[in-house]
Amino acid sequence: MKIITHLRKLIYPYEDVVKEIPPYSNILDIGCGNSHILEDFTKLKINSYTGIDPKVKNKIEEKNISISNKTIEEFIEEIDKFDCILMIDVMHHLQKEIQEILFRNIISSMKKNSLLIYKDISNRNKFFAFMNWAHDLLYNFQKINYFSSDNIKLILNNNGVVYKHYFKRVFWYDHEFFIIRNTK
Ligand SMILES: C[S@@+](CC[C@H](N)C(=O)[O-])C[C@H]1O[C@@H](n2cnc3c(N)ncnc32)[C@H](O)[C@@H]1O
Repeated sequence: MKIITHLRKLIYPYEDVVKEIPPYSNILDIGCGNSHILEDFTKLKINSYTGIDPKVKNKIEEKNISISNKTIEEFIEEIDKFDCILMIDVMHHLQKEIQEILFRNIISSMKKNSLLIYKDISNRNKFFAFMNWAHDLLYNFQKINYFSSDNIKLILNNNGVVYKHYFKRVFWYDHEFFIIRNTK
């Protein structure tokens, strides 16, 4: 296992993500970063993996693995090709003005019975929210934008999708999960 993957898995509940991935899925990983899910490609019986991230340097184009430096904004029309979509810690990196429209577009583009595994850092607790904000400022020189979970719930309820919502804190990282299935 790469050291960066090892460190990443120490600070977020990776197992919560992998346990939701249905076998033989065609996965879209939005903002894939180091694509660490690929290390479990065989174990998870993944059918195909597509990672998109504007920061990706090593593009890959193989039979069932594709990694490219596209943004989610450029990829919206492809969403309905995937059974399982991952969006892990990406939303807070997006500009405030586009967060809601993008989230709505993702939800309305999902194909029937597909799954969105969404995780972001929560701002429900002011202290932990500040710690995460400071982490990104010092580590990435970026001011992050929290996207409110009330807003997410409103959008999901209006779209008639089914979802579960929960939190899990690891150190000062307060993780918020939405596991969303489009049953329409
Ligand atoms: C905190 S990293 C998370 C990486 C990975 N999902 C993980 O869990 O390890 C956030 C990633 O989102 C990517 N990102 C930022 N804006 C994006 C956009 N508009 N479309 C797709 N990815 C984006 C960044 O380049 C960055 O790699």
